[in-house]
Amino acid sequence: MKFRAAGAGSDGIRITMESALTARDRVGVQDFVLLENFTSEAAFIENLRKRFKENLIYTYIGSVLVSVNPYKELEIYSKQHMERYRGVSFYEVSPHLYAIADNSYRSLRMERKDQCILISGESGAGKTEATKKILQYYAVTCPASQQVETVKDRLLQSNPVLEAFGNAKTLRNDNSSRFGKYMDVQFDYRGAPVGGHILNYLLEKSRVVHQNHGERNFHIFYQLLEGGEEDLLRRLGLEKSPQQYHYLVKGQCARVSSINDKNDWKIVRRALTIISFNDSEVEDLLSIVASVLHLGNVQFAADEQGNAQVTTENQIKYLARLLAVEGSVLRDSLIHKKIIAKGEELISPLNLEQAAYARDALAKAIYGRTFSWLVNKVNKSLAYKEGEFPGWRSTTVLGLLDIYGFEVFQHNSFEQFCINYCNEKLQQLFIELTLKSEQEEYESEGIAWEPVQYFNNKIICDLVEEKFKGIISILDEECLRPGDATDTTFLEKLEETVKNHPHFLTHKLADQKTRKSLGREEFRLLHYAGEVTYSVAGFLDKNNDLLFRNLKETMCNSENPIINQCFDRTELTDKKRPETAATQFKNSLSKLMEILMSKEPSYIRCIKPNDAKQADRFDEVLIRHQVKYLGLMENLRVRRAGFAYRRKYEVFLQRYKSLCPETWPTWDGRPHDGVAVLVKHLGYKPEEYKMGRTKIFIRFPKTLFATEDALEVRKQSLATKMQATWRGFYRRKKFLHMKHSAITIQSWWRGTLGRRKAAKKKRAVETIRRFIKGFIYRNYPRCPENEYFLDYIRFSFLMNLKRNLPKNVLDKSWPTPPPSLCEASQLLRQLCMQNMVWSYCKRISPEWKQQLEQKVIASEIFKGKKDNYPQSVPRLFINTRLGNEEINAKVLQALENEAIKYAVPVIKYDRKGYKARARQLLLTQNAVVIVEESKIKQRIDYANLTGRCCASE
Ligand SMILES: Nc1ncnc2c1ncn2[C@@H]1O[C@H](COP(=O)(O)OP(=O)(O)OP(=O)(O)O)[C@@H](O)[C@H]1O
Ligand SMILES: [Mg+2]
Repeated sequence: MKFRAAGAGSDGIRITMESALTARDRVGVQDFVLLENFTSEAAFIENLRKRFKENLIYTYIGSVLVSVNPYKELEIYSKQHMERYRGVSFYEVSPHLYAIADNSYRSLRMERKDQCILISGESGAGKTEATKKILQYYAVTCPASQQVETVKDRLLQSNPVLEAFGNAKTLRNDNSSRFGKYMDVQFDYRGAPVGGHILNYLLEKSRVVHQNHGERNFHIFYQLLEGGEEDLLRRLGLEKSPQQYHYLVKGQCARVSSINDKNDWKIVRRALTIISFNDSEVEDLLSIVASVLHLGNVQFAADEQGNAQVTTENQIKYLARLLAVEGSVLRDSLIHKKIIAKGEELISPLNLEQAAYARDALAKAIYGRTFSWLVNKVNKSLAYKEGEFPGWRSTTVLGLLDIYGFEVFQHNSFEQFCINYCNEKLQQLFIELTLKSEQEEYESEGIAWEPVQYFNNKIICDLVEEKFKGIISILDEECLRPGDATDTTFLEKLEETVKNHPHFLTHKLADQKTRKSLGREEFRLLHYAGEVTYSVAGFLDKNNDLLFRNLKETMCNSENPIINQCFDRTELTDKKRPETAATQFKNSLSKLMEILMSKEPSYIRCIKPNDAKQADRFDEVLIRHQVKYLGLMENLRVRRAGFAYRRKYEVFLQRYKSLCPETWPTWDGRPHDGVAVLVKHLGYKPEEYKMGRTKIFIRFPKTLFATEDALEVRKQSLATKMQATWRGFYRRKKFLHMKHSAITIQSWWRGTLGRRKAAKKKRAVETIRRFIKGFIYRNYPRCPENEYFLDYIRFSFLMNLKRNLPKNVLDKSWPTPPPSLCEASQLLRQLCMQNMVWSYCKRISPEWKQQLEQKVIASEIFKGKKDNYPQSVPRLFINTRLGNEEINAKVLQALENEAIKYAVPVIKYDRKGYKARARQLLLTQNAVVIVEESKIKQRIDYANLTGRCCASE
C-alpha cells in the first residue's frame, strides 16, 4: 500500500493526521501503524475503544480503513464532508470512507488504473452501508451531465431493488445482505460515471423455504403484501396477511418494528421504473414472487401406498396461472420423479418427504434463478452504451466488493465453508498485493527490501480448492459418484485424502485432547484467521442443489418470459451434469480474484461493536473475535514489518522545520537535504530511519512521537514568544495608529488654517484694491468701481456717528459726513436733537418744570436788562429763604391767615453811617412786609405799587 500523490487542501477545518497525534492520549492514534506495541491485540482494541468512545469510528492500518459500526447517525456524511475529502491526501484529513473513496477515484483518474474497494466484515458490521455511502460520494462529487445523472440514478436505485430481493431480516442485521455483491462503476475520461456492472455471489436460497426463529424471508415478499395495491394482489391471488403463507412464518416475525415494508415497497416500485422495468416486466416479476408464496402453501397427503398427493388444488391453479404452465403437468411433476435410464423414461411417485423436498427445491430454484435474472436485467440498464456517450471511448473501472466476512458460528455448515473459503482467497490477495506494493515502494524509493515474515495462507486455499485433492473436489466426487453417497461418506473420504494436512482435523484424526471438542460429523479447518469447525450435515444436498428433471421441464415450458429465460431448454438436453454449487462458487471466486488482481485495491474492514445493534456499546469480547477473524493483527504486522511511518520530504520538513535552527524559519536547499540536517539535529539514530528518493522512512512510532512531543514543546515556546511579540507589536501598532491619527488631524487642521488665512489675505488684497479704486473714483457718480468705497465710507461714517453721537443738547459736536451723506447727516442731526430734547422733556419733574417756567418768566423780565442776569440763570429759584420757624411768631400772628409766599433776610443800611441792620422781607399774597425781629416795620400792599425800578436805573 502506498500513499498517493498529495492534493492541496482548501478549507481550514481539517484535522491532519499529524496534528491528531497531539491528542493521541484521549482519542488514540488515527493509524494503527503508530501503535508502539503493534503486536498487542489489547493495545489494538484499546485504541479502537478510545476512538469509538469519541465517535471516531474510522482508523487506518496504513491505507486499510477499519470501520466500527456506530449504530447511530453521525454527522459525518454531509455534502460538506464530501467536499472536505475531495482531492485531499490521506494524512491531511481524519480517517474516513470518503478518503478511501477519493483516493481510489484520484488514482483512477490520474494513473488511469482500474481500482477496487474491498469491503468485508461480519453480518451487521456496516459493509452495505459503506458501499452505499461510497456510491453516494461519487454521485455527489463526480462530474455531472444529463446522461450521467441517469446512470448515477440507476446505480443508486439498483440498491433498493437488489436489497428487496437479496436482503432479509436476520438475528444479526435487520437488513442483512444474503448474497455477495461486486459492483463495477465505469468512469469516462472526464471521471464521470457512465455505466456499471454487478456480479452476485451465492444467494442464500435456503431462506426462501426456511427461516430460523426471529428471522424473515427476503424483504420483497413482505413488501409486496404490505404495499401492493388491492388490484395487484387480487391479480396475483394473494392475501394481505403474511400469516397466510407457510414460507413467511417460519421465523415467526413477519412484522418488525424497525422495518417499514409499505414505504420500502414504494421505493422499490419507483426504483424498478428507474432501472427500466416496464409495467409488464414488473407484473411478470411479481407473478414469480407470488408463485413462490403459493408454492409454499402446496400441501401433500399420502395415499394408501404412501405416495404423495396434492391436497391444495387451488394453489396449483394459481401457480399454473402465474407461471403460465399447465396445471396438471405442474401437479404431476411435484409428486413424481422422472428417471431416464438406458434410454427409457421411468416415472416414480414420490413419498411425502420427497414431494416436500421437490416443492422446496422448485421454490428455491425459481427464486434463485429469478434473482440472477434480476441482476442481469439491472446490468443491462447499467451497461455503458457508447452511443449515449459519443466520443468517450476509453473508460476505467472502480469496483466495490460488499462480501460477507469470516463467519464462525456455533454450528457452521456448507454456507460458512464457502464464505470462509472466499475470505481465505481475499486474504491471499490482500497479502500478495500489500507486500507487492510495499516492495514496489521500497524499490522506487531506492531502499533495500527487507523480507517480511507473514503467514502465507496459500496452503489453506489449496486445501479447499486443489484439483482432485481439495475439499471441493472430494465433495463433488461424492455428489457425482453412483451409489449411496452421504455426508458421512464424504467425511470419511476427506479423512482419507487430506488426513496429513496440517490445517485439517476431524474427530478421528485429532489427538485425545482435541478430540473432545469435535463431533463425529464434523471437520475442522485451521484458517488464517483461526479455527472453524464445520458440520458435514447437508453438504451433499446443498452442493448438489438438485431439481427434479420433470420440474425443470415444466418450468422450461412456462410462458412467463422471465421464467422462460431462467430455465433454458439446453439444460435438459445437455448430457453434462450441471456444475455443483461449490464448484460454481469456486469458479466465480477465481474469476473475482482475476478481476481484483487486475485492479489496484483499497480495503475497508468493518467491525460491529455489539450484538444488540445498540449505539455506544463496545463489546470487547465480540470485537476481539472480529479483529482476529478479519486478520487485522496480521494486516498490521505486515504493514509494520518495515517502517511505521513515511512521508514526502517536503511534508516532513514543513511540519518539523521549527525544531532545527538551520531549517527554521525557511530552508532554501532541497527538501531532502533539509530533512537530513533536521534529523541529524534531532539525533535520529541510523537504525531508526532511512532516506528514500522522495520520502523519509521512520521505523518506530516512538521516534515520531518524540519528534511530535518536541514539536509540541517548541510550539508552546513559540506561542509564548509570539504572544509577547504580539503584545509589543500590538501596543506599538496602537501607538503608531494614534500618532498617525494625531498627525492626520494636525495636518488637516493646519491645512484648514492655512486655507483660511490665504482666503483672508486674498479677501484683504481684494478689499484694498477695491478701496483704492473706489478712492480714485470717489467723486464719480456711483459706479461698480466706487460702489464698495462709497458704501464703505458711508458705513464707516455711520459707525463713527453711532460711536460719537452728542451726549446732550448742549453738545454741539457732530462728525463730518462724506459728501454723499450730507443731507442724511443733516436729517440725522435734527432727529438726534429732537430725540434728545424729547427724552429730556420726558424726564423733567413737575418741580423742575415749575423752576423752568419761573426761569422763562425771569428771562422775559430780565434778559438783556440786567447785567448779572446770565450769572443768575444757572442758580435755581427757591420758594423761600426763611422757614416759618425763623420768623417771629408774633409777626406770623400779625399776618394772621395771610400766607407767606416768600421770606428773605435782608440788610437795611442806615441813611446815616450806613449801619447795617438785619431785617426780614416777607412777601405775602397781598403785600410786602419788612420785619425787625417781632415787629412789622413797614407794609406795602401790592395794590399801592405803581411801578418798579431797577437798581441800575
Ligand atoms: N456508518 C454507519 N452509520 C450509522 N449506522 C450504520 C453505519 N453502518 C451501519 N449502520 C447500521 O448498521 C446496520 C447494518 O449495516 P449493514 O447492513 O451495512 O451491515 P452489513 O455489514 O452489510 O451486514 P450483512 O453482512 O448482514 O449484509 C445498518 O442497517 C445501519 O442501521
Ligand atoms: Mg450487507
